[in-house]
Amino acid sequence: MSLPTHGNYYGYYLKRPSVTDPRLALLPEDTFDGKKVLDIGCNEGWVTCEIAQAWGAHKVVGVDIDDTLIRAAWKRRQAVWSMQKPYDPPSELGETGNKEDLNSIQVETTGLARPQLNYFPASLQHSFGPLPIPPSQTRGKHIFPHNVSFRTADWTKEEIVEDADGYDVVVAFSISKWIHANGGDEGLRAFFQRIYSVLNPGGVFVLEPQEWEGYKKVRRMNDSLRDTVQNLKLRPSNFESMLESLGFGPARHLGTTGEGGFHRTVDMYIKER
Ligand SMILES: C[S@@+](CC[C@H](N)C(=O)[O-])C[C@H]1O[C@@H](n2cnc3c(N)ncnc32)[C@H](O)[C@@H]1O
Repeated sequence: MSLPTHGNYYGYYLKRPSVTDPRLALLPEDTFDGKKVLDIGCNEGWVTCEIAQAWGAHKVVGVDIDDTLIRAAWKRRQAVWSMQKPYDPPSELGETGNKEDLNSIQVETTGLARPQLNYFPASLQHSFGPLPIPPSQTRGKHIFPHNVSFRTADWTKEEIVEDADGYDVVVAFSISKWIHANGGDEGLRAFFQRIYSVLNPGGVFVLEPQEWEGYKKVRRMNDSLRDTVQNLKLRPSNFESMLESLGFGPARHLGTTGEGGFHRTVDMYIKER
């Protein structure tokens, strides 16, 4: 088995188990509401699906360098859908015939309502298989699961079609170390620059950088990574000033989550100019 030299771990979310991701819980509640979102280094798509399903996003795309992970992410989408509380298509005036009922239905069809997650246990799928996904016409393409998609690409080198339209929010959780260790200081700078360029004005960049301490393990993976890491001048503590020099506003430190090696900060930057 080849080494995960890009942080392309399989079974990653078994090491970071949670019903809902604690990093997302640190963000202001309206961060994703009605927004176009890019999740870079989406791995098996758990965070991507949560943003699409539970945070009211208009459209979310997850990109990862590893095609096996992207295939797992598509499966995760169906698994999450299969656990969600079934949604009854509204009748003309709602169940009770009351106007109030109709209002709540309209909220649901515009994608603002939050579905009930984890309604069915995962064991149900293990026994009977996942539920089929209905065609997007019956639910609307900006409601989960139709508002989420996945792409395989090395986002430091390749464009994905969604980039052309720009994003309101870009999420980069636990990926900066891998970009930095593979591409050096220049690679990381180009990565941040590219995030800046795909964000719409006023857009939000959410970053969970790994600590410098964690680079040690990467160095041991192969000679190329060892040489690149040895020559790095930038440290994660420099990222904030670097991002400001690219045109982002001051960092908002939202807090820390995670245990042991996963104890990391989540920071938010706004594209100001
Ligand atoms: C440590 S995992 C973090 C997963 C996820 N963002 C999270 O924190 O829950 C890093 C992910 O970034 C992906 N990755 C690394 N370099 C990448 C690149 N250049 N383009 C796209 N994905 C990349 C890896 O394949 C891996 O799935």
